[in-house]
Amino acid sequence: MIGLDVEPMRADLEALMGKLAGKALVADITADDTPAQLVALAKELGGFDIVVHNAGVTRDKTLANMPEHWWDMTININLTAALRINSALLDAGALNTGGRIVGVSSMNGIAGQRGQANYAASKAGVIGYVEQMAPALLAKGITINAVAPGFIETQMTAAIPLMTREVGRRLNSLSQGGLPEDVAETIAFFANPAASGVTGNIVRVCGQSWLGA
Ligand SMILES: NC(=O)c1ccc[n+]([C@@H]2O[C@H](COP(=O)([O-])OP(=O)(O)OC[C@H]3O[C@@H](n4cnc5c(N)ncnc54)[C@H](O)[C@@H]3O)[C@@H](O)[C@H]2O)c1
Repeated sequence: MIGLDVEPMRADLEALMGKLAGKALVADITADDTPAQLVALAKELGGFDIVVHNAGVTRDKTLANMPEHWWDMTININLTAALRINSALLDAGALNTGGRIVGVSSMNGIAGQRGQANYAASKAGVIGYVEQMAPALLAKGITINAVAPGFIETQMTAAIPLMTREVGRRLNSLSQGGLPEDVAETIAFFANPAASGVTGNIVRVCGQSWLGA
């Protein structure tokens, strides 16, 4: 197993990979050489069976005030990097037959969100990509799906201002934020070898969010 994160997260990444007996790869998914590094690692391990594209960022501002580099950065990390990595793995035959690709979209990629045109565009892009790729991958028995989380209690949502955060937590039928485990369990379902007939799907993990319902 390989876990990837950026340099500032090295300690957390190494601690987690230590627990899981995996390998920590400190890299930026948008760097030019990251796809090739992943291909090399995949080949060492006899190919990857499961690839989960979880890395993501927000850079929120209304479109009128959005610096161009915030737009580019959000699209690059949340969407383009996954496309480049998948292409490199598929071109090199480094994703095994019966492999699983799981993307992480967002309810804001389905419903949009004020101040998040960049984020919503990137996450809507994940959905379009999954739908477009699924038929092309079926010949190799590779499935591609994505989760679309609603409000989940993580570092990302801890950074939202208090009142907005409290509203975000409650805008669903469960009236509470979800946990990372809720999303992880859905990813694990997609990744299960028995889920071979499940491809091109987006599953919302949102407690029945009222936005995008
Ligand atoms: N928390 C939520 O409510 C929520 C809702 C919908 C979707 N999501 C999505 O879930 C995923 C996980 O988010 P989270 O809430 O755990 O956020 P988080 O900020 O806690 O985790 C995101 C991780 O991505 C890593 N990352 C960022 N840029 C990177 C890069 N260039 N290269 C490598 N790693 C990079 C970060 O270092 C961090 O470890 C993201 O794709 C996010 O958009 C989160």
